[in-house]
This record gives sequence, structure tokens and C-alpha cells, in this order.
Amino acid sequence: MKLADNKSTLSFSNGSPQVELPVYQGTIGPDVIDIRKLYAQTGMFTYDPGFMSTASCQSAITYIDGDKGELLYRGYPIEQLAEKCDYLDTCYLLLNGELPDNAQRDDFHQLVTNHTMVNEQMQFFLRGFRRDAHPMAVLTGLVGALSAFYHDSTDIHNPEHRNIAAIRLIAKMPTLVAMAYKYGLGQPYMYPQNNLSYAGNFLRMMFGTPCEEYKVNPVIEKAMDRIFILHADHEQNASTSTVRLCGSSGTNPFAAIAAGVACLWGPAHGGANEAALNMLYDIQKQGGVEKIGDFIKQVKDKNSNVKLMGFGHRVYKNYDPRAKLMQETCNEVLEALGLQNDPLFALAKALEKIALEDEYFVSRKLYPNVDFYSGIVQRAVGIPVNLFTGIFALARTVGWIAQLNEMIADPEYKIGRPRQLYVGSPRRNVP
Ligand code: SDX
Repeated sequence: MKLADNKSTLSFSNGSPQVELPVYQGTIGPDVIDIRKLYAQTGMFTYDPGFMSTASCQSAITYIDGDKGELLYRGYPIEQLAEKCDYLDTCYLLLNGELPDNAQRDDFHQLVTNHTMVNEQMQFFLRGFRRDAHPMAVLTGLVGALSAFYHDSTDIHNPEHRNIAAIRLIAKMPTLVAMAYKYGLGQPYMYPQNNLSYAGNFLRMMFGTPCEEYKVNPVIEKAMDRIFILHADHEQNASTSTVRLCGSSGTNPFAAIAAGVACLWGPAHGGANEAALNMLYDIQKQGGVEKIGDFIKQVKDKNSNVKLMGFGHRVYKNYDPRAKLMQETCNEVLEALGLQNDPLFALAKALEKIALEDEYFVSRKLYPNVDFYSGIVQRAVGIPVNLFTGIFALARTVGWIAQLNEMIADPEYKIGRPRQLYVGSPRRNVP
């Protein structure tokens, strides 16, 4: 980053001395005001709950233009990556900053493939859970537990450890997600198969059984790979910020990623895909398209606490580019599976149309986000609703790791420790 050609001066109406704060410019996007010396110079903090106007770091990984509805991974538009690359190419790009050449691509794919198995002891963790445990509860536990197996890669300050931990997490997440699914079904786990693609291997671990050969459907394999690409990273969202803050204490990467899994679970964040599909099911049960008007009325009634799940975004004040690509993937998969008249897809498209013509949504710039259509395509593929966020976590692991490694490699980074505006009781004595 470099000094911007304008300065910022803070002045106070109570006559306190003015403060000059440097303004920095990035490559693209908003400039930042460096307030690091503000407290030392004024004895005051800034106040920004929810971080609406706060840049927590400098990063070269992902750029979002919320007004244009643009998403770039290391400068490449998401539309081009979804079209021309696969998920592992995208992982290489996010981790290393450049797309791999053929030799690098083959090496990286081989490296990930060779780390897809988990320690045999991992299966005993699952036995502690009820069979009907939510897969995200299981996944949070399993990812955290990985740190108990890899003492050779838990020193986050050792670049070698950071690299092998990244490979292990990217490689093992599909295996862990599939194990959580199989455990819920009471079916045997499927071991990874090295001659399959990343997405194909995941599908076989999910839907294959030891009783017969599993044939990967190429349309579904491509759809899964695209879903992974669309969810791979997204700037400083809540779970990525959680991973950065957690990792800033120097804890091991597996523990930091487990914190990201836990944060992503929330319905306002990665849990929205599960909530969006359940919302569509509810509208369907109440009568489908004819009932959309009543539902929209509920959403607009503040006392109802009902939100249109899969809509709205802190950054996108235009259509989320991932939602467009997800809708395309929806079309392709439903067509391939002969489900083009899927009532839920028709309902979602009708709901989107009505919402985008309604002043309540237009005035608040609420558009479909990545979670609005992802549930429909995952359901069509056979993934249970309560596993949608687990798939999101699987795909986002590379983003979390890339952001964590970028932070640790930044000589300026410190342990994250925000302050507060204290509004509690002044000092008093116990009677
Ligand atoms: C993800 O940050 C990321 O990048 C996240 C993510 C990623 O890839 O990591 O993109 C993934 O989390 C996508 C978002 C998934 N969440 C949902 O779909 C849940 C529904 N969406 C809302 O909860 C909400 O839109 C948020 C949480 C996503 C964003 O909330 P903000 O930025 O805090 O905005 P807000 O709540 O202040 O909303 C502004 C107004 C409010 O109304 P008013 O007070 O102005 O009258 O818009 C309303 C809100 O009530 N509003 C909605 C709404 N979202 C916002 N009203 C109805 N339905 C919605 N979905």
C-alpha cells in the first residue's frame, strides 16, 4: 500500500488539538485512514460495531466491488475462474498468488491427493456424537481434533508447517465432511480413491458404498467443483475474520480453521444456504408461488423477525456474481437430472423476481447472494439440507488458510485485541 495524495485531519469541537492521520491507497477499492496512533494521540478509540467502516488488514487475495457486483480472486474475475479452472487450480491461485503452470498443477493435485486420508483414530471421535448430531457440530470437533494428530505442522510461524497444514486441511475436509454424513446415515465410511478428481472423490465418499462400484456423474462432478470454486474465498467475511483473529494468538492452523467452521455455521453467514432452502420448503408447504405475497409481507413486518434468507449482503449492494453462476449451475444440473420442472427452483425464481420488483428490497439494495440458489443445486445432487454449510466450510477452507498464512507472513501483524466503549458501573465497593 502507498500513501494517498490526500491527508486526513481530525478536529474536535471541544478545542482538543487536531490530529493528522495518514491515508493509504491500495491497488483498487477504497483508501484507508490509518488510525493506529489515534489512541496514543487522543486517548480515544474509534467505534465501529460490526466493522461497517473498518479495514482489519491489508490483503492481496480477494477483492469485492459491492456496487458493481464484482469478485476477483488474485485479480481474476470469478466468472472466468468458474469457466476455465477447477477448484484445485483455484486453491493453488489463492495460496500462491498465481495460477499453476502444467507441472505445478500436476504436483499440487498429486500432493493434495496423497493427503486425503485421515488418521484411523479419527473415526472414534465420531462415535462420541449422537447419530442425529448436526454435521457442523461434528465438523467443528473433527477439524479441531486434527491438531492432535499433526504436531509436525502446528508451528504457524514455520512456513514449511504452514504449507503442509494447508495441504492437509484442503485434502482432508472432503473426507471429514463425508464421514460426518456417513455417520449420520449409519453407513460405513468410504476411503478416498486417488484416481478420482477432487470433486469426484468427494461424491464417491458421500454416495458410494462398499457394496458396489460408484460411477461419478460428470455433470454433478463439474457442478460440485464449481460450487467449491464459488465458495473458496470472500475477503474479510465473519468466518475469515474469526480465523485471522484466532490465528493471531499463534495457535495452530487446525484450531484456527475450526473456529472458522464454528462461525460459518451461523444462519446470517454460511448457515444461510440451509435456512434459505428450509424457507422455500415452508413457502411450498403453505401453498407455493401463490403464498409468496404473504411471505414477503411477513418479511417486511419488522416484528415478524422473518428475513428472506439467501438475500442481502454486507458488501454486495448489487447482484452477488456467485448467485448468477449458482443459478446457471442449478439450470445445468436440473436439466441433466431431468428435474428442470423442480418446483422449488421455480419457486425460488418467482420469489427472486417478486423481491427484485418490491421497493422494500430495491431501496435496501437486497439481492440474492451465494446462498440463495446453492441449496437447490445441492439438494438436486442428493446432499441433505443440514450438510449444505459443511460443503461451504469444505470449500472455504482454502480461503481461510490463505488469509491466515498471509496474516502470519505479514511482518506488521500483531495479536488482534479490540477495545470497547465501557458503559457499565463505575468503581464501587462490595458492601
Ligand atoms: C454469506 O460477508 C461475506 O462475504 C459473507 C459471504 C461469504 O462468502 O463469506 O458472502 C457468505 O454469509 C452471505 C450472506 C448469507 N446470509 C443470508 O442470506 C441471511 C439473510 N441476510 C441478512 O441476514 C443480511 O442481509 C446480512 C447479514 C447478510 C447482511 O446484513 P447487514 O449488512 O448487517 O445489513 P442489515 O442487517 O443492516 O440490513 C439492512 C436493512 C435492514 O432493514 P432496515 O433496518 O434498514 O429497515 O436490510 C434489511 C434489514 O432488516 N435486510 C433484510 C435482509 N437483509 C437485510 N430484510 C429482509 N431479508 C433479508 N435477507
